[in-house]
Amino acid sequence: MGFKEQIDITRLPEHIAIIMDGNGRWAKNQGKFRVFGHEIGVLSVKDIVEGCVDIGIKYLTVYAFSTENWNRPIEEVNALMELLISTINQETATLTKNNIRLNAIGDIASLPQKCIDDLKSAMDKTANNTRCTLTLALSYSAKWEILEAARKLAQQVKDQQINVEDINEERFSAQLTTLDMPDPELMIRTSGEHRVSNFLLWQMAYTELYFTDTLWPDFRREDLFEAIVDYQKRERRFGKISEQLN
Ligand code: FPP
Repeated sequence: MGFKEQIDITRLPEHIAIIMDGNGRWAKNQGKFRVFGHEIGVLSVKDIVEGCVDIGIKYLTVYAFSTENWNRPIEEVNALMELLISTINQETATLTKNNIRLNAIGDIASLPQKCIDDLKSAMDKTANNTRCTLTLALSYSAKWEILEAARKLAQQVKDQQINVEDINEERFSAQLTTLDMPDPELMIRTSGEHRVSNFLLWQMAYTELYFTDTLWPDFRREDLFEAIVDYQKRERRFGKISEQLN
């Protein structure tokens, strides 16, 4: 029996977050340039989006470019931006056809102007789609996002719109880039690294973490289904004891 058949569709995670890692190593293993790994990585993104839509996952968030990735050699940064632009433009029609909304989180203003424009256009075109929301984390880091939220709340206090005592989890969450989505129940990281690398730190307070040695360009929907089966075997206690859960 395949992993898909083992999934209990009544207990799906609503939101899956993925750190897509290992493109460079995958390419090196093939004797190719790193960028080739990113190109094949895009095929993995497409397959995973299709897999999510197929089984009914409502939110998929992928870490496509971190704040720290700006420190990579300029040729790789440029190639990633080009790849992003070409992928967005090639895939918008497919997203529309499949009722998928494209969303982006991160310091979008720091991206090249062409990237911002094409991203915005694709987001506008797919804004009313409801089957699944695909969020690209671009120039994103959780510490950046949390600091931005703290600044906005401080400003609201300064402007006497709220009192310090009004600041609670709900108000804080509402200042984050993920304000319109539930926290991820499952986070997958490929390539054998066991870190969260500044991704969705606030939102992952109770997320189940799944690590696999598979490199991102090799990660396809059957691997996603395997991760979901593993997730469904876990008991999520949120600080309680087993006997309290039912
Ligand atoms: C990590 O592998 C991957 C990235 C930093 C970029 C991920 C980007 C893509 C899959 C393509 C663009 C995505 C979209 C949605 C258009 P790595 O380079 O860190 O690999 P390594 O750890 O083996 O060096």
